[in-house]
Amino acid sequence: MLVTKQPVLRRFWYALLPMTALDDGPKPFTLLGEALVLWKRPDGTPVAMRDRCCHRTAKLSKGFVSEDGNIACGYHGWEYDCSGTCVKIPQNPSGAIPPGAAVKAYHCQARYGYAWVALDDPLQPIPDFPEDGAAGYRRIFQFYEEWQTSPLRVMENSFDNSHFSFVHKANFGLFDQPQPASYEFRETDYGFEAETRVPIRNPEASFRITGSTAPITERHLVNRYYLPFSRRFGCMYPDSGIHHIIYNCATPIDDGRLMLVQWLYRNDSEEHCSTQALIDWDAAITAEDREILEATDPDACVDTRRRVELHMPSDKPGLVIRRQLLGLLEAHGESEVFHSH
Ligand code: FES
Ligand SMILES: [Fe+2]
Repeated sequence: MLVTKQPVLRRFWYALLPMTALDDGPKPFTLLGEALVLWKRPDGTPVAMRDRCCHRTAKLSKGFVSEDGNIACGYHGWEYDCSGTCVKIPQNPSGAIPPGAAVKAYHCQARYGYAWVALDDPLQPIPDFPEDGAAGYRRIFQFYEEWQTSPLRVMENSFDNSHFSFVHKANFGLFDQPQPASYEFRETDYGFEAETRVPIRNPEASFRITGSTAPITERHLVNRYYLPFSRRFGCMYPDSGIHHIIYNCATPIDDGRLMLVQWLYRNDSEEHCSTQALIDWDAAITAEDREILEATDPDACVDTRRRVELHMPSDKPGLVIRRQLLGLLEAHGESEVFHSH
């Protein structure tokens, strides 16, 4: 699926950057092939606009936030407010603004510590992540990094427990137990919820993560898929009662690149397991996923339906993701666009 060729994908919210990334001025971000500038107003609200000044085409991401709280172009200082309207031309002593002097602005909101953007009118609000702000949970920003693959491949991977024994065999995967338990699916208005229990290796290095000292322990997973490219990894360790809930947005940059945005909620304390240890732990696991996902074809259609028929039930999540995505396209009069192979 070529994400830049599917207009309905422009009607969803995506997490782009942590709000703190805007503390020192405007930043560029390409979303679905569209070059944006993000900046933060003095009251802390984020703004997303086309990254192109309407005077002489300089990128506004090279500019700065003015004393009046507008974005100022770094070339000749034209200023734009949060609606994209040009409100100041320093070279013009009369203060007059030519009609039509404006830059396109996009839907932009701060949520969960990130700046979220929808390019066209969103079909749904930003998903509700109930752990955020809930008693007993701490939120840990883990990372955002650019990957050379497609968000569809990342979503398939997120619900594919049959890769643990191979991709993560040096970590928690059990190499000699390659058959994962099947998921229980519940389809929802945002996508689906899928629940299962997975035995994992628990070497000493992971004792603080799992809260258990048993050599083999269990993950009780209540994972969620949010159309089109976000997911919850809802991991609970029954031995200890620790929750390790990861949210990811595989934010599409263009056809073949995405920004993997990842953060975590834990119901334990800094004394039990430090923020840095939790960042390092999941960064190592995610690096294993990245290496294999960047080795896949970002665009090819994988015939999961046929494989499920051929008794590969572990491919069912990929099948459901694909069916829901294709249903979304169809409901908006689109069909899937591929590179020709
Ligand atoms: S190009 Fe932006 S002010 Fe001239
Ligand atoms: Fe993985």
